[in-house]
Amino acid sequence: MLGQLSLLLGVCAYSAASSCWPKENFALIQPQTGCPDGNWLTGSITNTLHKNSSFPEDLVNGTVEGQHVTTRFCAHSKDQKCSGTPGSANFPKGTYCLWEYEPKLRTRQRTEEICPVGFQWSWMNIDDINLHNVNSHEGAIPLAEYFSHSTVPYFCCRDDGEAKDAIELPTDNDFILMPTMAKKACQEVKGMTVKKTSIYYSTADEEATVHGAPTVPDSTPPEYSYDQVVANWGRGMHFAICYYSKAPHVAKSKNAVASSAAAAPVCWPKDDFVLLQAKAGCPKDGSFTPGAVKHIFGTKTTIPAVSGTTSENGLTTIKYCKHEAAKQPKSCNPLNTGSFGAGSYCFFLGSISDTGIFDKSCPAGFNYNWVVLDNTVVANATSETGGVPEGEYYHASIVYYTCCRNDGDVNVPINLPKKDNFILMPTMEEQKCQTVNGMKVEYLNMMLDTGDMNFIPMLNNATWMANDYHVYNPAKGHWGPQMDFKICHYTAK
Ligand SMILES: *[C@@H]1O[C@H](CO)[C@@H](O)[C@H](O)[C@H]1NC(C)=O
Ligand SMILES: *[C@@H]1O[C@H](CO)[C@@H](O)[C@H](O)[C@H]1NC(C)=O
Ligand SMILES: *[C@@H]1O[C@H](CO)[C@@H](O)[C@H](O)[C@H]1NC(C)=O
Ligand SMILES: *[C@@H]1O[C@H](CO)[C@@H](O)[C@H](O)[C@H]1NC(C)=O
Repeated sequence: MLGQLSLLLGVCAYSAASSCWPKENFALIQPQTGCPDGNWLTGSITNTLHKNSSFPEDLVNGTVEGQHVTTRFCAHSKDQKCSGTPGSANFPKGTYCLWEYEPKLRTRQRTEEICPVGFQWSWMNIDDINLHNVNSHEGAIPLAEYFSHSTVPYFCCRDDGEAKDAIELPTDNDFILMPTMAKKACQEVKGMTVKKTSIYYSTADEEATVHGAPTVPDSTPPEYSYDQVVANWGRGMHFAICYYSKAPHVAKSKNAVASSAAAAPVCWPKDDFVLLQAKAGCPKDGSFTPGAVKHIFGTKTTIPAVSGTTSENGLTTIKYCKHEAAKQPKSCNPLNTGSFGAGSYCFFLGSISDTGIFDKSCPAGFNYNWVVLDNTVVANATSETGGVPEGEYYHASIVYYTCCRNDGDVNVPINLPKKDNFILMPTMEEQKCQTVNGMKVEYLNMMLDTGDMNFIPMLNNATWMANDYHVYNPAKGHWGPQMDFKICHYTAK
């Protein structure tokens, strides 16, 4: 994990964006909300696979009907009309992929120059089961080799920039790009939040040798992984996608006054996340599951406001509340549900992935990061039960995954249910507590008498959003010994 830390989610500064896409030929997976505008052509590819493929159905316009998986596309040609604000002629530098699209028939296979300017050509294989020509495709679709036994789509990827350096693309509508295999991180786009997830193609692998060994593409393809690599291909393919939607506070800023005056919400935002448990217990809205983690720290640990225990032998229990979107009561609706609006605050990551790839998906608007709580000894008395943060639970230490945002003023309140006490975390950048309508907040310190295992030096030096903590001896590589872990404790006014 330490090798692949990267910024996968983000909200960036906003500027007036163009509404026209670069005048190039390319295709994108069709979002559930439809193509970016009515001038795009559409098409679909149907693959015949094993029966358990799956789409993130709330995001992608595609269907799984038994063995038949249909992925829908939106195709853009360089000559198509756009009535909006013209954008730049070419795509900006960065790390992302498009599907190759050539609106006219051509005679030569594989010509790099038909990728948009700045992109390089690559491909991968979706290995269908051999049901004799039951694969099909229609309409405006990506350029690919469409066989009865497999589909070899062509891609245009570029890896000449950093994912965290936000690029400009039209922000009027949702769209889907792909991360590169080289970086495995979603390119940030100004004015948009991005969620990384994946499509699961339940691919076969019977005929790799019969149909010839693959060659490696010349340059990075989009990110994918197999459940099981078999011969040259693999069984069960996770195809990573980056889903872009309007950054939440763009929409909200217009009616900020109205929303702060709105009735107090009674439901927590419909997302997966984990909070430290306040002494009074988890908020009682039916969608939280309590959990606990046992650590072995030194004896100096002090835990204010958080539900937890310390003992003379250093055994320290910290309790959590895990909120699951899927457990949201039926009575919750957009009018009575709070929102994690723009601001500066953190919580723990609640679920690793929608579809299997470890995608570090924080709720929209938040950035993935992590923090290590180092045990003083490698002890098997450490354990976790119930609803706890996603992370890496070792006997020696626990790497907790966090979600932070720092895109708004801590003094502009956000709206969350105020019936029960709760705990959020401040960001390293602000070191102040986000205000919440109707709640008092205290900025408190949990002193954790952590160990100092001196493992791999941590890369995290707060060049990107982290929760607010301080390690007493950072020369020891950000692991400890001893740390101040800051929390924001909210109680009703
Ligand atoms: C999803 O694809 C179907 C089939 O092409 C189409 O009828 C439908 O309009 C698409 N959904 C949206 C929101 O465009
Ligand atoms: C179904 O999907 C799971 C992973 O989601 C995989 O482990 C399993 O092998 C798949 N079954 C088939 C028949 O492909
Ligand atoms: C855990 O520690 C106890 C006490 O030292 C020991 O008896 C037990 O065998 C250990 N269990 C494991 C699974 O290591
Ligand atoms: C933090 O990271 C940056 C970029 O990697 C590096 O230049 C800087 O020296 C680091 N600072 C510390 C205190 O480690």
